[in-house]
Amino acid sequence: MTRIFRFFSVFSIFSIFGCLYLLLQNKNECYFVENSNVFPEPEDKILFKSVAKYEHNLAIIVPFRDRFDELLEFGPHITKFLRKQNISHHIFIVNQRDSFRFNRAALINVGFMFTESNFDYIAMHDVDLLPLNDDLKYSYPKNGPLHVSSPKLHPKYHYEKYIGGILLVSREHYRLVNGMSNQYWGWGLEDDEFYVRLKDAELTVHRHEGIQTGTDNTFAHNHDKRRRRRDMEKCFNQKEVTRKRDRKTGLNTTAYRIEKVYDLKIDGISITVLNVLLECDKSATPWCDCSNASK
Ligand SMILES: *[C@@H]1O[C@H](CO)[C@@H](O)[C@H](O)[C@H]1NC(C)=O
Ligand SMILES: *[C@@H]1O[C@H](CO)[C@@H](O)[C@H](O)[C@H]1NC(C)=O
Repeated sequence: MTRIFRFFSVFSIFSIFGCLYLLLQNKNECYFVENSNVFPEPEDKILFKSVAKYEHNLAIIVPFRDRFDELLEFGPHITKFLRKQNISHHIFIVNQRDSFRFNRAALINVGFMFTESNFDYIAMHDVDLLPLNDDLKYSYPKNGPLHVSSPKLHPKYHYEKYIGGILLVSREHYRLVNGMSNQYWGWGLEDDEFYVRLKDAELTVHRHEGIQTGTDNTFAHNHDKRRRRRDMEKCFNQKEVTRKRDRKTGLNTTAYRIEKVYDLKIDGISITVLNVLLECDKSATPWCDCSNASK
């Protein structure tokens, strides 16, 4: 009995000293060991802690499927870019693993919910769009969403209401508009609907001013049209429904399961990959799968 007791005492003294050591080193949590890339190594959920010394922490949320080669470039590039700006950030790849059509907006909702308690703003970020101009600051968008890939600078999209590509939104504002619509399966239009959501909530979208580069040298756009054909198909009544403002779906109706969370290292940079299975209610949005549709 005493021997068991002694064993436990010794054990707990060790852990107490371990914790004290960490606390003396100015780490807030015993289980949390900071590393140079701002984020601790994954073990379980606790690890996604923001870094206390930074006022703001950015979750880079990348909706993703099948773009491994682009990710290899994106991870190191964006990390280097944001380190220069001293932005505390972590990259989350939200990888769609079900067999429905790609749903960029629902994946962003999933990424947001996963990171919400530890990050106070997000960047919805295309994996194939790399910022090149250091004047594009990814700072906390206090006064309303900040559209980084503005139509004046984007290599391809030039309409005034365009807010796709790279958009920074505070946690409060993303919640306020109930996130993005979940109805957009297949390519396009979800960002235009999000623009109307922001407008309805009386949020003003801001863009950087005084950027000296143009449409051909502000971003590197990695998109290869031949290899990556866009899924432009419209089936069932998709066209009609997705033209309209969606007042029903959003963060509170995103149906999904996180199958697994991975820690992926690219060139020493720690990136979190969420394997996500989206669910589709085929009576509400039959166009999540066009394979049986009579077009
Ligand atoms: C980066 O920001 C943090 C938090 O604001 C600050 O403590 C640190 O000194 C900054 N580092 C550099 C290199 O500017
Ligand atoms: C989700 O939120 C919207 C408003 O943002 C609301 O109209 C809708 O009823 C909510 N749905 C559910 C299932 O809670």
